[in-house]
Amino acid sequence: ATTISETWDVEYIMWAPDCQQRVMIGINGRFPGPNITARAGDVINVTVNNKMHTEGVVIHWHGIRQFGTPWADGTASISQCAINPGETFVYSFVADKPGTYFYHGHFGMQRAAGLYGSLIIEGSPEHPEPFRHQYDGGELPVLLLSDWWHQNVYAQAAGLDSKDRHFQWIGEPQTILINGRGQFECTLGPARWNLEKTIDKNIQTCVDNQGSCKDEERCLRRSECGPYCPKSQCAAVVLDVRQGKTYRLRIASTTSLSALNVKIQGHKMTVVEADGNHVEPFVVDDIDVYSGESYSVLLKADQRATAYWISVGVRGRHPKTLPALAILNYTDAPPSSLRWRTEPPVTPAWDDIQRSKNFTYRIKARSDTNEPPPAAADRQIVLLNTQNLMNGHYKWSINNVSLSLPTTPYLGAFRHGLQHSAFDTSGEPPATFPEDYNVMVPPVNNATTVSSRVFMLKHGSVVDVVLQNANMLKEQVSETHPWHLHGHDFWVLGYGDGRYDPLKHEATLNTVDPPLRNTAVVFPHGWTVLRFIANNTGAWAFHCHIEPHLHMGMGVIFIEGEDKIRELDVPKEAVACGLVARTVAVPLTPA
Ligand code: C2O
Ligand code: CU
Repeated sequence: ATTISETWDVEYIMWAPDCQQRVMIGINGRFPGPNITARAGDVINVTVNNKMHTEGVVIHWHGIRQFGTPWADGTASISQCAINPGETFVYSFVADKPGTYFYHGHFGMQRAAGLYGSLIIEGSPEHPEPFRHQYDGGELPVLLLSDWWHQNVYAQAAGLDSKDRHFQWIGEPQTILINGRGQFECTLGPARWNLEKTIDKNIQTCVDNQGSCKDEERCLRRSECGPYCPKSQCAAVVLDVRQGKTYRLRIASTTSLSALNVKIQGHKMTVVEADGNHVEPFVVDDIDVYSGESYSVLLKADQRATAYWISVGVRGRHPKTLPALAILNYTDAPPSSLRWRTEPPVTPAWDDIQRSKNFTYRIKARSDTNEPPPAAADRQIVLLNTQNLMNGHYKWSINNVSLSLPTTPYLGAFRHGLQHSAFDTSGEPPATFPEDYNVMVPPVNNATTVSSRVFMLKHGSVVDVVLQNANMLKEQVSETHPWHLHGHDFWVLGYGDGRYDPLKHEATLNTVDPPLRNTAVVFPHGWTVLRFIANNTGAWAFHCHIEPHLHMGMGVIFIEGEDKIRELDVPKEAVACGLVARTVAVPLTPA
């Protein structure tokens, strides 16, 4: 195993991700951040210099379990102190298993400001991937999907935090980005996208923009250069393939809000990996990807040698955003102009939830590498997802408690025995909700509270989580929430509609070949049951991966192995803030 070392300057940059220039958070002067590629077993060392003058920063390595290094999980107020402006922090952790991952800011709404990038961990002899001989063409560039707003995240956060009639929802994104590139209101098939708003007059047909890129060098920094000027910051992503070869294509989503669907014109995909775990291969025409999820698919270039569109469209919410486009280009064909004449494929209708369920329910652990879960759990935690109000503020709540993070990170507080003064230790948050709660209608009592309480998990115990979705404040609306667990993978034992009833549903759960994942959705008005082993000492977030939902409190905290945290060798700079900075003598050494 080797050590991969990176030094990053995190700073504000001017960038034109969708051909319009805005302020973003970039790394080393670019957006998105650099791709990290490592092999399973390698050590990844990233020195982060916070070059932003007005805010702290942390970087979370999404999907990396951080065994033995919970202080490197990169969650502000949970695993570490935010890195102050001008300061430096070194993340050092093991790339524990092969898979498709990414990293992103985990403080405030920095992820939505553009602080993210890809993290690919390749297989190794000790950590083989069973499908590695099935792609003779090699790997295509990863597709990291995101969504983008023209309003900056400070305005977004202020709108979400405001009371009563001043509350402002972030609305739908202006542009979907693929590897940080998109084309604002630029399309080839507007009539068929079936959007809510009329998009006629602002729409440029993307082709018109080609004229402006004659001076390629100038396009590097100029937002008026069109999406097909290869050097423009908003140039569409092109995947080059050769006819007859099979490729591995990795797809991941770090969207702030949107559920997406990826469809490749004229080609099918075989799903083989989800969130760094092997799945029983299955063939699809298109693939749903929720925020926080990742997949690998095998793609065979078995069509006529020419260029094809890849469409990335919005699912699950009434879209006001045009699909993003990329190009699958057969290099053995003469340069083709066909791409400008065909219409990109249309992704499935946004409200065809049954189709999403069918896809999600098909995902199973790969039969020849399957490790089934323990047969039973030591405890069950039921988490009711509701939208509520607190003194005029809109909140997302779990069993009617909305998460508010303390100023002293949980990990530091437990490491130094300061938890009783650092946050509310008057017990755990509720682990269930009233018998008579009707999940199909708006909350009868819509007043919620906020709390910093945590669930205390016994080291090594088996935990079941029932995610129970419910109706929002508005009649007959319930949304899809992708829940992401830090520090672990979990088995997804089952899904269903309505309220989870153990007497009826427990027998239907899959304990034979459930998929292992780190993110799973709970469908509208439905439930999802997860199982995991609490075998990772640390302080871990479990939350909805929709950025504004997390901002509004949609998450819980698991503290694992309280006694073992006391013995952890937590680097002092990770936790030297809040009460730890004020009360613990430096240098901080293990107890
Ligand atoms: Cu990718 Cu806590 O998130
Ligand atoms: Cu959510």
